[in-house]
Amino acid sequence: MILVTGANGQLGRRIVQHLIAREPALRGRRLAVSVREPARAGDLANRDVTVRHGDFDQPDTLPKAFAGALRLVLVPTDGPAALRIQRHGNAIRAAVAAGVGHVLYVGGLEADMAPATPFSRVHRDTEALLADSALPHTVLRCPPCADALTDWFAPALSDGSLPVPPGEGALSLVSRDELAQAIAAAALAPRLDQRIHRLTGQAALSLADIAARIARVCGRPLRYEAGSANGPVDALDARASLFAAIAAGQFSPLSRDFAALVGHPPKSLDCLIHEYFAPRSLA
Ligand SMILES: NC(=O)c1ccc[n+]([C@@H]2O[C@H](COP(=O)([O-])OP(=O)(O)OC[C@H]3O[C@@H](n4cnc5c(N)ncnc54)[C@H](OP(=O)(O)O)[C@@H]3O)[C@@H](O)[C@H]2O)c1
Repeated sequence: MILVTGANGQLGRRIVQHLIAREPALRGRRLAVSVREPARAGDLANRDVTVRHGDFDQPDTLPKAFAGALRLVLVPTDGPAALRIQRHGNAIRAAVAAGVGHVLYVGGLEADMAPATPFSRVHRDTEALLADSALPHTVLRCPPCADALTDWFAPALSDGSLPVPPGEGALSLVSRDELAQAIAAAALAPRLDQRIHRLTGQAALSLADIAARIARVCGRPLRYEAGSANGPVDALDARASLFAAIAAGQFSPLSRDFAALVGHPPKSLDCLIHEYFAPRSLA
């Protein structure tokens, strides 16, 4: 049985959908999810997915939630870094106790960043907890999801300028849906490998370059302005952590791991920018 945690979240739900699309025969007793509110997973139950209650803040719920899982897709939680690491530790200990065969952890490409940001520390420490657990595991390191571009650039599109922290780092981006597709493909591999996959996009571009491409597609001017620094790296919030990692070049190295898992490369950034920003109609 494959079990996916966090399946009421945006990424976890898409992973389940891609698992079903790739392998419909999983439905029945071979696909399960662990969620904090089973009532919100009624659509999955209706599709013959086993829905279990599991809350990483309540470790007592996890042995039952994880029982019988040969493969467990561990989707990271949201929240403050220390709490997330504690939760992931609870989940890993429960996976060991439940006899889970293999864990696939959805990590971040910035896991090795030094000095660490709070965000990168979550991935670094969770990978370390997995290594210490002796559980067979695969790490799927992800870039920021391209869907976030619409949030990042919303203020820029209304007032024409984009204030971001300074730094020359380029980054590649992959849509959330395609990340889920690659994670599902990894979870379904006939033979699981114990390695780190880097799910990068096809090309790494600077934020200034991305802004110019968005401006072209929107047909509106968009000014890129490097903003001010955000304070000590180890005390940054989630968004600032992400921009510090971009500035440090954590998302610029490219890999072909996505295509090796899925069978083709992820969509180009230009394609995604058209999806997110092309005017729907010409007034
Ligand atoms: N492109 C992407 O979307 C992307 C890329 C890389 C990494 N990530 C990471 O993947 C995670 C999920 O992203 P998302 O976009 O799906 O965010 P989201 O929709 O906000 O989902 C948050 C997830 O955290 C889970 N969670 C929170 N507290 C929990 C707890 N105590 N026990 C168990 N699960 C708990 C939720 O579980 P329930 O399902 O039970 O509500 C939910 O699935 C985030 O950590 C994000 O940083 C996302």
